[in-house]
Amino acid sequence: MNKKVIVTGGAGYIGSHTVIELIHAGFEPIIIDDFRNSKPWIIDRIQEVSDAKVLFYEVDCQDKDAVETVFKAHPDAAGVIHFAAYKAVGESVDKPIAYYQNNVGSLCVILELMETYKIQHFVFSSSCTVYGEPKSPIVDELTPIQKATSPYGDTKITCEKITEFEQASKGTLKAILLRYFNPIGAHESAKLGELPQGIPNNLVPYITQTAKGIRKELTVFGSDYNTIDGTNVRDYIHVVDLAKAHVAALNYAINKSGSFCEPFNLGTGKGTSVLEIIQTFETVNNLKLNYKIGPRRAGDVEQIYANANKANKVLNWTCQYGIAEALEHAWNWEKTLN
Ligand code: WQD
Repeated sequence: MNKKVIVTGGAGYIGSHTVIELIHAGFEPIIIDDFRNSKPWIIDRIQEVSDAKVLFYEVDCQDKDAVETVFKAHPDAAGVIHFAAYKAVGESVDKPIAYYQNNVGSLCVILELMETYKIQHFVFSSSCTVYGEPKSPIVDELTPIQKATSPYGDTKITCEKITEFEQASKGTLKAILLRYFNPIGAHESAKLGELPQGIPNNLVPYITQTAKGIRKELTVFGSDYNTIDGTNVRDYIHVVDLAKAHVAALNYAINKSGSFCEPFNLGTGKGTSVLEIIQTFETVNNLKLNYKIGPRRAGDVEQIYANANKANKVLNWTCQYGIAEALEHAWNWEKTLN
């Protein structure tokens, strides 16, 4: 089996960490990225950390002709890992058309070209957001998919459905849908991490930018929820654990016979509240964070965390890092940024 893997969005937060783990596992990643949510120097960092030369193409995944030049150059690729997408819930409410055009449009381009070039193995970057506000906080892959509460969430549900129907109609695709919970942290080398553009939407980059003085203070969005301390509970997973799960998923798809489209939850299986994240960040990094309690944020789910047993058993994958390491690594990375 050829070890080439096309990685769209491979210069992004999860994509870049996954490219490193693919190299460690003996694969030859080929990055497609137009740096709309990353920086060209991330490619240099990937090469520095992995001590390997990485092929990359600066291409917009919505541009089928441009993406096809990559498939034409590497028709022997074993598979595709598709990260390229917009991912900010709030922004998607302001820009729904851009989210559907990019997230759904790019997926259709990739699946069409995979069919043309007979590349079967596909790993898709999905999200726990497909579960909406679950009846029980701990969700497994059989938990019903709910009506999306944002265009971002709906693009993930739609992309999963398109992949399922494509697999059913052609019977050739070997697809894995990875439903991430909340990715946090950075590479232990502090040479790679999250690079939010503008004001961070997500909790942990907002915390690290507050600790650095870039933001004045963190606002905790609500403390009157029916949870352990009134703040929202999430399943925060270290980005490197998440990256390793992509390698495990690709190997599983390569070794499994037949055609399929299978979802997997990728989380630690543990719930952590916003206040617990703040307290852990302060303890592990020996600092005080400036924060206040504010009103709830529209659209927030009260609590959700993963039943990750299926990924643990079937992909033979478990998380190696805990919250403390993730928050230490996040801070170490933030301190390197100017
Ligand atoms: C986490 C908790 C906030 C910021 C979304 C997407 C998911 C994935 C991750 C892309 C919530 C609270 C946050 C702040 C706060 N997307 N918070 N103050 O909303 O759980 O998940 O991002 O990969 O698909 O749905 O993540 O980090 O925005 O929020 O109190 O300034 O932190 O209320 O409870 P979320 P988040």
